[in-house]
Amino acid sequence: MIFDRVKSLDAILATAEKKGLHRSLGAFQLTMLGVGAVIGTGIFVLTAVAAQKAGPGMMLSFIIAGFVCAVAALCYSELASMVPVAGSAYTYTYAVMGELLAWMVGWALVLEYALGASAVAVGWSNHLVGALADSGIHFPALMSNADGLMARVALAFGSAPTPDLMAAVQNGGFINVPAIVVIMAVTALLIKGTTESAMVNAVLVVVKLIALTAFMVLTLPAIKASNFHPFTPTGFGNLTSGTGYVGAAASIFFAYVGFDAVSTAAEETKNPQRNVPIGLIGSLMICTVIYLLVAAGAIGTVGAQPVTSAAGAFLAPGSPEMAGRCAAIIASGATEPLVCSKHALVHVLQTINYPVVGWLVGLAAIIALPSVVLMMMFGQTRVFFTMARDGLLPASFAKVHPRFKTPHVVTAVTGLFALIFAGLLPVGSLADYSNSGTLFAFAMVALAVLVLRVKDPTRKRSFRTPAVWLVAPAAIIGCIVLYAALDTTSKLVLVGWGGIGLVVYFLYGRSRSHVGRGLTEVHELDADAPPVSVPPMPGAHTSGMKD
Ligand code: ALA
Repeated sequence: MIFDRVKSLDAILATAEKKGLHRSLGAFQLTMLGVGAVIGTGIFVLTAVAAQKAGPGMMLSFIIAGFVCAVAALCYSELASMVPVAGSAYTYTYAVMGELLAWMVGWALVLEYALGASAVAVGWSNHLVGALADSGIHFPALMSNADGLMARVALAFGSAPTPDLMAAVQNGGFINVPAIVVIMAVTALLIKGTTESAMVNAVLVVVKLIALTAFMVLTLPAIKASNFHPFTPTGFGNLTSGTGYVGAAASIFFAYVGFDAVSTAAEETKNPQRNVPIGLIGSLMICTVIYLLVAAGAIGTVGAQPVTSAAGAFLAPGSPEMAGRCAAIIASGATEPLVCSKHALVHVLQTINYPVVGWLVGLAAIIALPSVVLMMMFGQTRVFFTMARDGLLPASFAKVHPRFKTPHVVTAVTGLFALIFAGLLPVGSLADYSNSGTLFAFAMVALAVLVLRVKDPTRKRSFRTPAVWLVAPAAIIGCIVLYAALDTTSKLVLVGWGGIGLVVYFLYGRSRSHVGRGLTEVHELDADAPPVSVPPMPGAHTSGMKD
């Protein structure tokens, strides 16, 4: 039963033939596409989270996460170039390993995209609140995070009233209003059917690169070697707390998510066999080098040692105890440690006396991060839409707005889901939960590449993963290791969410599935393509569902 109901690959591939997208992208454009899609909350905010988990050893974390993404990216590209249709990992799995696994991948992608959007929204909120404070406008703490609410929940569930937790009760807020507002704004834009032009995208890439370059130029010459000792204060990793440099890699993995933008452009690429791997590996290498230099600048100037509880115990980043501890440190008049900062890079520049540049870097994040939220929410609507069109989710999910010609129902559902979590959870937890889903999807894609090489070795592949029997297993093992290195809660999020997914599938989707009912016609024909608003996809139409 697990592997039954495979969607016909020939039917899906008919799309690629029909679409016949113009091959115009070269290696440089692809690389820039990747860099633009990848740089976001991860480097601007999660640097502090990684430091709390690994100290200066987070530099190793950036290398480990970058490597896992690189091998996963090479697998992603083979399927993306063979099955270049909506739904990404969900569709690939449907074609290769059947409906049940495809459903589980699609369900896990909700974590990747919707919670990913929430994480980036919270990162944006942190920058907005920080920039306002630096300009003398103090946004009420009650409405800029939910640390206080979470501390009360922890107490209600029997956590000990430690001084750190009580500090969070006193100082923490109840809800993150700016994060909710940015999700609502992006949802409205997606429903209205905005198109983010290549021009806007290019400008945002430049804004991000200028901000990070300024950071490197100001921090790298001021590095002190002593700040790198001890280098790995929390060691290699811990299977429950998520500490150590592998644990930090599992969190910072979020900073690399988004490269699939390059894979999905494979079909529009000149000489994809050469240019797609250059674009993927090139953008990942550029980001890895930038991330390493930025991390080195942050560690070397202000230090990156984790803070512990008053009793010397490890504090999980984003936990109410950690929030309380940080509040207590700041209240004592000490300099705020990097690991406590909610806008890490801005904080570093302020601490080393570049407040104006710090403010400008914050402004760059405020300008550029909403486009990352938008890309993630767009990815989510595409996956939901494709699943609804396959009969696995209610048909109303695939409804198209009569005037705007966008999938407004599924966009609104996505927005609601994302804003609830953005309003209530800290960025580090959201990124970890998102990663648990992404790691599952990436591992399944790598497995699908191997299965298809065995089942259908002669089929035309416009891009072939090099050394696939080394690269794909490395991707699978890498994803498993990073998943294992997440903290217990994040691991359970995937298990719990997957369990709910199975119940929904067997109670709802299995009996309604179009493939199961023999309605396996080519849904991916041009006329069936889901409405496209962002980014513009040549050849796609804005039609609704058609059975
Ligand atoms: N890689 C993207 C970010 O860091 C998701 O925001």
